[in-house]
Amino acid sequence: MSSKSVIRSQQQHKVFIASSDDTKICVVMVGLPARGKSLIAGKAMRYLGWVGIPARVFNVGGYRRFNTPQPEATFFDPHNEEGERMRRAAAEAAMSDMIQWFNTGKGVVAILDATNSTKERRNWIYEKCHEADIEALFVESICDDEDLIMTNIKEVKTTSPDYKGQDPEVAALDFRNRIRNYEKVYETIDDNEKHYTYVKLINVGSTVIINQIKDYLSSRLVYYIQNLHIKPRSIWLSRHGESEFNLTGRIGGDSNISERGEAYARALPELLRKSGVPDNTKIVIWTSTLRRTIQTARHLKSETGYEKLEWKALDELDSGVCDGLTYEQIAEKYPEDFAARDEDKYNYRYRGGESYRDVVIRLEPIIMELERSENVIIVTHQAVLRCIYAYFMNVPQEQSPWMEVPLHTLIKLTPRAYGTEEQRFKADIPAVSTWRGKGTSAKHQDFPAEKGTETKH
Ligand code: F6P
Repeated sequence: MSSKSVIRSQQQHKVFIASSDDTKICVVMVGLPARGKSLIAGKAMRYLGWVGIPARVFNVGGYRRFNTPQPEATFFDPHNEEGERMRRAAAEAAMSDMIQWFNTGKGVVAILDATNSTKERRNWIYEKCHEADIEALFVESICDDEDLIMTNIKEVKTTSPDYKGQDPEVAALDFRNRIRNYEKVYETIDDNEKHYTYVKLINVGSTVIINQIKDYLSSRLVYYIQNLHIKPRSIWLSRHGESEFNLTGRIGGDSNISERGEAYARALPELLRKSGVPDNTKIVIWTSTLRRTIQTARHLKSETGYEKLEWKALDELDSGVCDGLTYEQIAEKYPEDFAARDEDKYNYRYRGGESYRDVVIRLEPIIMELERSENVIIVTHQAVLRCIYAYFMNVPQEQSPWMEVPLHTLIKLTPRAYGTEEQRFKADIPAVSTWRGKGTSAKHQDFPAEKGTETKH
């Protein structure tokens, strides 16, 4: 990260989530394996990065894997002295790297992802943080819903590096035994730990207990975390079908979809079905308030009967005085603005309009609502979709405004314990490209092939 962008992101975190320059928070995950801790940790890090707060996960399992890449359940038996010693060493290494990271002055929130399942371990972390002037925020995930635990076990055995290449049934059995070993020593946070700042999430946020939150940043973080759930679901993203403005290269406006756009609208229900919708799954359709997204979702709504919501916050980035112009006309009429936007597209605010940063701010409630929801398909616009995509896929701010999100393509995002899986489904219906590279004012451009390849993350 250049020094320039560090300054920007620091400025942003003051604007977005006020906190003092020396704020240092260590989010300490607590809970048995298969309780969604890594999912919560990863999501909190992405959310913070998205709003411009430097955050990093320190995964103790990752440190342990240096020495013991694929341990059996017996390694986690509290009576296994060698196992205990190695696990303690991994926790110490993670802690020491975390403190070093804070000492560089670049860190604001660290997330210590481990079970931290005994009072003794938590006390050790609390004392270490206290010495280094770091505020500890414990986040305990408690879950006794057998179905959810089973889903998490399945998820872990198929995605964790601990079980890579192993027979899934053997992996599941071993993982259950590992959990049993942890249960022998697990102590939930209780009244003797009332002096800690903590949040207890019981059964994926159905009950939340909050204790002693001291500052604004922690309270924002807690608000975010309490909206999370770990039920399996997918989120589908699509731009509206090709619009009349897209055909002429004009930006903004509230035009209708073109004939090819209408063909995409008709194809969307089948495209969604083909992308893999589990039986009896209810999906909620979200659109903006602009005609082109409402028209695109029309057949989807009538053919499936899914509930539909229109959100003003999903309207396209407001291009102010440039609304209705082509890029060529903007370059001619406002050459300095055109160049300034290319120079710093994330922060550039159109005269009388918005910047990408502004869009992220107005999308924050959408992200909160998305986190609370289950299956959702969002039909929206190029810039808005880039911002939402950046949140889920952890795309840095300076890259997100330049990403390609082609028309007539359905993107399916499925949160997993170790990241978000992405699949793209192209409808076989041609459309213009609205992507524009830095320094050009071309009406329609194709995205460079090497960057435009479809990926599954
Ligand atoms: O061209 C389609 C469009 O959705 C415009 O309405 C909008 O101004 C633009 O894309 C946003 O993309 P960019 O930030 O790359 O100009």
